[in-house]
Amino acid sequence: MTPETPRAASTTRRDFLRSVGVAGAGLALSPRLGDRLEASDGSERPLWPDAREDRPARVARNPKRMLVLGGTGFIGPHMVRTAVERGHEVSIFTRGRAQADLPDVEQLVGDRNNDLSALEGRTWDVVLDNNARDYRWVQLTTALLQDAAEHYVFVSSISAYGGEGAPGRRPNDVMREPLLDEDARRFTPPDGWTDGDEAHYGLTKALSENIAHEAFPGRTTVVRPGLIVGPGDQTDRFTYWPVRIDEGGEVLAPGNPEHANQVIDQRDLTEWIVRLAEDGTMGDFNATGPASRMSMAEMLHGVRAVTSSPVEFTWVSEEFLQAQGLQPWSDVPAWMPGDPLMYVSLERAWAAGLTYRPLAQTAHDTLEWDKTRPAEERENRNAGMSREREREALAAWHASR
Ligand SMILES: NC(=O)c1ccc[n+]([C@@H]2O[C@H](COP(=O)([O-])OP(=O)(O)OC[C@H]3O[C@@H](n4cnc5c(N)ncnc54)[C@H](OP(=O)(O)O)[C@@H]3O)[C@@H](O)[C@H]2O)c1
Repeated sequence: MTPETPRAASTTRRDFLRSVGVAGAGLALSPRLGDRLEASDGSERPLWPDAREDRPARVARNPKRMLVLGGTGFIGPHMVRTAVERGHEVSIFTRGRAQADLPDVEQLVGDRNNDLSALEGRTWDVVLDNNARDYRWVQLTTALLQDAAEHYVFVSSISAYGGEGAPGRRPNDVMREPLLDEDARRFTPPDGWTDGDEAHYGLTKALSENIAHEAFPGRTTVVRPGLIVGPGDQTDRFTYWPVRIDEGGEVLAPGNPEHANQVIDQRDLTEWIVRLAEDGTMGDFNATGPASRMSMAEMLHGVRAVTSSPVEFTWVSEEFLQAQGLQPWSDVPAWMPGDPLMYVSLERAWAAGLTYRPLAQTAHDTLEWDKTRPAEERENRNAGMSREREREALAAWHASR
């Protein structure tokens, strides 16, 4: 044995670890959480990707040129960031009023009502129509772009379902199974309605879907989200719950704890939409979550998991809330007991790759985002009863028992 032997042995061991890509970590031969891979250029990355890190982790195999209609509203920024991170080339089209934290993308300015000139003479692989609240907007963009893009992805809504004969709300039905799949009845125009007339939200979404399919036959994807939630949601419809539960104390919980409920984090939705665009997946899809039936109680307890505040839920019957003049959805947000729209079939979306963050992550991130909002916004929320109103209703409920 030469004096060199121990050093040579240790060098060999380090070289071996490098050759299998494991650097540091106390020279452990069994890779462990925290181990890092060392690349030939000396840079490092975790050997085990952290499941909590925001997706997406991989870059698209087939980068596309994407036009996002919208892009600076609620669901737009994460969609744009995701597309850029995955290697796509992105243009956005807005009026240039709303500002958002976006990567360096082409910003086209116009108005979906009457000025699409910035889109003229251009081509894209795919159009992501994520802001249409008027079917006439879709008429204009599809007419202009049907020969200028391969694929049209239209963000619709489960509100497109309805009309005569559609299943209505059955308040006492906790809904064990979904009633609506993608072939369920959608709104059609009432008698006497003519093209160009105003249409309510559900009808405008149903009409927009038809217009997109007609202009891009076999080249359209329709995504029908349920309630979209998460950081950035200015409507407060889900945000109410993390905020209220984090405040602690006696929390008014609505109706039957067993009622089915669905929501989707805007980040899960937009990451999936980008993948649909990337893969050229066509068809109509409901898009909400989570991945299995969620009751109202499960949702509230799931939200509770992200706060250490002492909380006690008091479940107040639906009839009592009604007698108190407290309305589902507005006074009691993200709650519409027995409405088939609150529990739709998601088999098709799952087969097409829709995945979810844990509800706790959505609740935590929503709460953290809410704390960054201006005080004025937090004091004047767009949904949910005031604390005073909640206290009155709870007092009346206890007195009636
Ligand atoms: N929120 C939900 O729970 C929910 C549920 C189901 C479906 N959806 C659907 O999800 C989609 C996304 O919702 P969102 O809240 O993210 O949308 P949003 O915030 O209303 O979208 C606003 C975006 O559209 C742009 N915009 C507004 N008016 C425009 C115009 N006339 N011409 C060109 N650009 C215009 C805005 O920028 P400028 O202001 O600068 O123009 C902004 O980039 C919508 O289609 C909605 O119907 C929402």
